Amino acid sequence: MEILIYAHSGLRWLALTLLLIAIINAFSKKGKSLYEKKDKMINLFTMISLHIQLLLGLILTFNGKIAFKEGWITNNPQMRFLLMEHIPLMLIALVLVTVGRKKAEKAEAPYSKHQLIAKWYLIALILILAAIPWSFRGLNI
Ligand code: HEM
Repeated sequence: MEILIYAHSGLRWLALTLLLIAIINAFSKKGKSLYEKKDKMINLFTMISLHIQLLLGLILTFNGKIAFKEGWITNNPQMRFLLMEHIPLMLIALVLVTVGRKKAEKAEAPYSKHQLIAKWYLIALILILAAIPWSFRGLNI
């Protein structure tokens, strides 16, 4: 299980970097810009990296530290954080990225595609940054 925690922890940097690149790329487009293969790939791989996090996260949820016992949510700050903040916010962010990308793929105009990616991915990034158990938060996770 340790290795999965390392993978889930380390992959955050890949996911965050891709998300940032995708957002900057989308915001940098002007009215006449095209929606090229490169743009499509950045947006796709960003989504995939988050879906890998979901997969690892699900395994950790059911096989890791989380103990589904009576009273756990109120007694244990780590459990409370994971079950009330980390998991729900990450799931919402994942839905935003997936839906945002689908909408962008469906939009006709290249500029609309970029705008959709920029907005949906930015909101997801904010949620993800808020839901990561950063060491400075002293959560001991
Ligand atoms: C989508 C982006 C996600 C990011 C960037 C992320 C990031 C992290 C990080 C940095 C940790 C701390 C790991 C450590 O101990 O060093 C963590 C822990 C954890 N995450 Fe996520 N996570 C994400 C999504 C999810 C999802 C969707 C789930 C569940 C469905 C999940 C479940 C967990 C669990 C259960 C732990 C605690 C692991 C343990 O210590 O047993 N995560 N996550």
